[in-house]
Amino acid sequence: MVEECRIALVGTKFMGRAHANAWSQAPRFFPSTLRPKLEVVVGRDREALETFAANWGAARSETRWRRAVQDAAVDLVDLCTPNNLHAEPAIAALEAGKHVACEKPLARDLDEARAMMKAAKKARKSRTFVWFNYRRCPAVGLAHQLVQEGRLGRIYHARARYLQSWGGPDTPLLWRFKKRHAGSGAHGDLNAHIVDLCRFITGEEITEIHGAISRTFIKERVDVATGRKGRADVDDAVLFLATLQGGGTASFEATRVAHGHLNRNVIEINGEKGSLRWDFEDLNVLEYLDAADGPRVGGWRRIVCTSAGNHPYVHAWWPDAHMLGYEHGFVNMAADILRVLAGERPELPLPDFADAYRTQRVLEAAMISAKERCAVRLSAVK
Ligand SMILES: NC(=O)c1ccc[n+]([C@@H]2O[C@H](COP(=O)([O-])OP(=O)(O)OC[C@H]3O[C@@H](n4cnc5c(N)ncnc54)[C@H](O)[C@@H]3O)[C@@H](O)[C@H]2O)c1
Repeated sequence: MVEECRIALVGTKFMGRAHANAWSQAPRFFPSTLRPKLEVVVGRDREALETFAANWGAARSETRWRRAVQDAAVDLVDLCTPNNLHAEPAIAALEAGKHVACEKPLARDLDEARAMMKAAKKARKSRTFVWFNYRRCPAVGLAHQLVQEGRLGRIYHARARYLQSWGGPDTPLLWRFKKRHAGSGAHGDLNAHIVDLCRFITGEEITEIHGAISRTFIKERVDVATGRKGRADVDDAVLFLATLQGGGTASFEATRVAHGHLNRNVIEINGEKGSLRWDFEDLNVLEYLDAADGPRVGGWRRIVCTSAGNHPYVHAWWPDAHMLGYEHGFVNMAADILRVLAGERPELPLPDFADAYRTQRVLEAAMISAKERCAVRLSAVK
């Protein structure tokens, strides 16, 4: 029998649209015993909200998130709101017995993330999920599988960078540039993704930060509401070096002011037996080098991850050799969330609040390192 998972979707702009699309596509491509239903969508602008609800087939709309997260007709609360509106609604939803799927970064800081993790532990019947969507790009799924199979052997060196260009001086003072709303800038926005990717692909935790630099280049931006300049008090770029639990080294780099880099989310893993690299700007491709091939015929293999055997979600999508895009990562994740809620195994491991807390600890340790100009052991950051 097919049952319903009734969803309250909070936030209706960029991620609101990505998630509404994911919930609507998932049951069409991934048959499940649990069918998602957009029960209620939540936003602030009544008119825009009604247009959104009609477009995505939501049963109802609501401007007060508190009512939606306690609504008896809701099973799962999906948070697509700015970072200052993750902890409070997530905890309220967990206390009301709901499942919660929250956008990344889990929270503005480690204190909020810890409170969320504790609330999740306490709410024994609720499941939590965090939308680290890049885990579900097929090429990243294959990278994870190859490392788990031991193809890279011991991990020596991970290099991750997430470079964007949209945050120059002409970009107004969005919530993303205010600490009160965002917690941090490129760090929580972009380093959160690549720290998660590094942990997911290598299967290793980060144990120490050796040094971090945080810079705010543009300290004032125009507030479109007032037309006046206001203070931008988050970082524009953060870089840091780290140690992995197996002794390997890792480097992370995030910026929103790198001209020529639109959405350059790149990770490279070098191990004793070979190397892997992935670039979101060519998202269907995983590059793999097997050191056993030797110098004569060795070199990078360009694996186009669109075929059975190299694509963890191929059974649901198109015939071999047909490309997937950005939105498919969200659909794949929505399908995996529904599988878990139906008591089945997800195609690939899903991050919950406890898992995202570990990523948040790394972010916090890097911020301490940048501020104090020192190395920080993760065991000292609780
Ligand atoms: N997974 C990803 O790759 C990815 C990409 C972009 C953003 N994000 C994350 O998603 C979250 C949202 O980012 P976005 O880019 O969609 O932001 P956005 O500014 O496009 O949308 C924010 C939404 O939240 C709503 N909102 C704000 N305050 C509210 C309130 N009090 N009550 C109800 N609704 C309220 C706004 O009306 C808007 O619909 C952030 O945490 C961000 O870090 C994740």
